[in-house]
Amino acid sequence: MGGKKEIEGNFHHIAFRDGALVLLDQRKLPREEVYLECRTEDEAAEAIKTMVVRGAPAIGIAAGYGMALAAARHAGSGAGAQREALEGAARVLGATRPTAVNLFWAIEKMMAHVDKSASRPEALAEELLRLAEAMHEEDAAVCRRIGDLGAALLPEGSSVLTHCNAGALATGGYGTAGGVIRSGFRDGRVREVFVDETRPFLQGARLTAWELSRDGIPVVLITDNMAAHCMRLGKIGAIVVGADRVAANGDVANKIGTYGLAVLAREHGVPFYVAAPTSTIDMEAKGGADIPIEERPEEEVRSFGGALVAPEDVRVFNPAFDVTPARFVDALVTERGLVRLADGESLGSILG
Ligand code: MRU
Repeated sequence: MGGKKEIEGNFHHIAFRDGALVLLDQRKLPREEVYLECRTEDEAAEAIKTMVVRGAPAIGIAAGYGMALAAARHAGSGAGAQREALEGAARVLGATRPTAVNLFWAIEKMMAHVDKSASRPEALAEELLRLAEAMHEEDAAVCRRIGDLGAALLPEGSSVLTHCNAGALATGGYGTAGGVIRSGFRDGRVREVFVDETRPFLQGARLTAWELSRDGIPVVLITDNMAAHCMRLGKIGAIVVGADRVAANGDVANKIGTYGLAVLAREHGVPFYVAAPTSTIDMEAKGGADIPIEERPEEEVRSFGGALVAPEDVRVFNPAFDVTPARFVDALVTERGLVRLADGESLGSILG
């Protein structure tokens, strides 16, 4: 990008070192930068479930390394026992976060390799680790492509709003929506980023504000209920979000609150873009109603930053995601290009 300063967007939040999956503990950001080591597939699954690592592509990558851990741990017990352990790991890892389809995509990729490999157990373990590393690297490269394609949609000097964290921390690096913002900032198209705090887990306040500020990108933090007002004031030029699963008809499951933003965007004439790799497209889900929506613990809503802010016994509903109908999405930005679906069209063509 002739003379323009590239933005790295890599916080080394997922690594495989000395036989362990090493994760930056995203629950503790931005106050502490602490790393957690997973040495077994169960530890990797627990880290995904408790959101040490989160964001659809990052969840898939961590699960890939979890499968590699299982293969290595059981390599000494013979091919049959290793296969059984891998099937068990696929079940345990697959039971962690139901909405992010990249989780299942990654596990299936690993198992497909197991099915076709004729290698002995030690060699198979090595192959699975290489495959997980390749998925990791590939995801970061895919995000750069998404970033560059999406940035071109933004007029120069735009003020962009994003929700949750679809940044470097949520991917193999660079980010999907975060990638569009990074490439856009590099190219002078993004001037500042309005970041929704994203109740209840605060991925916007804790993670997006942290990672964009680290890369020198100007951030304005708002609470979720300020977005409509900001749009009405004309402060928002475009909205860019990520996705956990995109159905065949283009409906998008993403962090709870995304749907509301899409409806508001339409009302205020603000373009609404979704950035996601093709690994997030689930052709088996015909529409949004086919996407399972994760419900998370009640405590996340009753408390804020660990402090109780509601009656201890109040009933809570805590869906982690919502579905935005395809008609509200002005463009889906994938590594293979931009998609604008007309009513009744399917994403099949982009997957080739
Ligand atoms: O519950 P989370 O933090 O895993 O939810 C993350 C999101 O909703 C992201 O927007 C999505 O996974 C896209 S990540 C590139």
